[in-house]
Amino acid sequence: MAGTVLETDVSDAGHKLCLVSDLEKTGAKSVSRDGKDGLLLVLSEGEVRAYVSHCPHLGVPLETIPDYVLDEKCEFLVCSTHGARFQVEDGLCVRGPCRDQSLEQVGVKVKDGAVYLAG
Ligand code: FES
Repeated sequence: MAGTVLETDVSDAGHKLCLVSDLEKTGAKSVSRDGKDGLLLVLSEGEVRAYVSHCPHLGVPLETIPDYVLDEKCEFLVCSTHGARFQVEDGLCVRGPCRDQSLEQVGVKVKDGAVYLAG
């Protein structure tokens, strides 16, 4: 499922989040940041994107089961509470109670098969 993932320079890389291969099973990976909300890493068109796992509707995490947040076609992140659907490429909600609101995107970089928080 991972395909070719674009790599970027991480000479200033910070916190390592996971391996790209960790996303292969479900297309997504639930990770935590120190003392902050959880992040959802997803593969989209050969890039790894990261969103804060915080539904704009009620402020709850999107996923009930870690790593399982994408729909069958891996086109949308789906909130497990009321089913809101967010585009993988930009986090915009296109269906559900928080339509037209977006997930908070977090910058990440990929190097040597690992995903890092950007700067
Ligand atoms: S809490 Fe996510 S859709 Fe309601």
